[in-house]
Amino acid sequence: MEERIVSTQRQPEDDPQIEVGLRPRTFEEYVGQEKIKEKLAIYVRAAQERNEALDHVLLYGPPGLGKTTLAHIIAWELGVSIRITSGPAIERPGDLAALLTNLGHGDVLFIDEIHRLNRSVEEILYPAMEDNALDIIIGKGPGARSLRLDLPPFTMIGATVRAGLLTSPLRDRFGVVDRLDFYTPEELEQIIIRSAGILNMEAEKEGAAIIARASRGTPRVANRLLKRVRDYAQVKADNVITAAVAGEALQMLQLDQKGLDEIDRRLLKALVEKFDGGPVGLDTLAACISEEPETLEDVYEPYLMQLGLLKRTARGRMATGEAYSYLGLPPREDPQQKLW
Ligand SMILES: Nc1ncnc2c1ncn2[C@@H]1O[C@H](COP(=O)(O)OP(=O)(O)O)[C@@H](O)[C@H]1O
Ligand SMILES: [Mg+2]
Repeated sequence: MEERIVSTQRQPEDDPQIEVGLRPRTFEEYVGQEKIKEKLAIYVRAAQERNEALDHVLLYGPPGLGKTTLAHIIAWELGVSIRITSGPAIERPGDLAALLTNLGHGDVLFIDEIHRLNRSVEEILYPAMEDNALDIIIGKGPGARSLRLDLPPFTMIGATVRAGLLTSPLRDRFGVVDRLDFYTPEELEQIIIRSAGILNMEAEKEGAAIIARASRGTPRVANRLLKRVRDYAQVKADNVITAAVAGEALQMLQLDQKGLDEIDRRLLKALVEKFDGGPVGLDTLAACISEEPETLEDVYEPYLMQLGLLKRTARGRMATGEAYSYLGLPPREDPQQKLW
């Protein structure tokens, strides 16, 4: 599978050092998601005043929108330590027990990809989240007994692409559940200007706006495109990202103004040309572009839907009229007629 410059998932080229440098540290530096930020800031303050742990928080939404960043910010604003792990990394109940018993009063435990926890681990989590208790089994066979250990109050922050991927008993144990949304071009522009400053270069408003529109509503993509445009700016424009520099750089990367690349176009074309605009099932469509159905659903489709190019219906995926005009094709005949 070729690597996409507009992939919203982390890529090897996303240097962790740079990524950490660009990562906002406080609510104030964190651009956008205003409602979530406002709410969380109040909860954080209230928890601090009562000297209690913040309620458990579940953050969900497409990759690259700032879930991990937000988890770090919450811990920072609470003034507590954060321990970071992920669903697939916790293989046995003992791994989770070790993490839990090492938490300090009010600390944050961040579990990325929390939907990938296995069942036996998840069951340890229920009493831990609900009663701050850890149930461990000592011994084996008929002589085995269960022992309950007290845990300090702590905050669990879980991140996942879709809340629906969690089992309902796990989801129900989160007091705060928030969905992160795609960013507006204006918000992305702010992020790009801020990042350019950190990278010691200047982004003119018009230049930043062009990169912003091609960033798929996603800060991770915005930062990655910025880094690619940087080389252009350095050679051609004294380290200033002008509109012309940004436009040329994106063209070189074969992105259009909406940030759609060859794979997106292939997907839309398949939908329109092979399936007459749909509806077509997810699996069939995924096979058509040689992708996993989950990737299509969680990574590609959300942005295409956001742009209004693709629709999910009960009968399958459909291309919208916008998709036809995006591909430069005449709109298809009335889909109602097709039903008969
Ligand atoms: N609200 C934001 N403001 C500024 N930069 C952001 C914001 N959200 C995310 N970023 C940038 O995007 C990158 C990816 O965010 P991350 O938190 O890792 O996304 P997720 O965990 O949702 O996949 C971060 O390194 C950060 O630099
Ligand atoms: Mg993350």
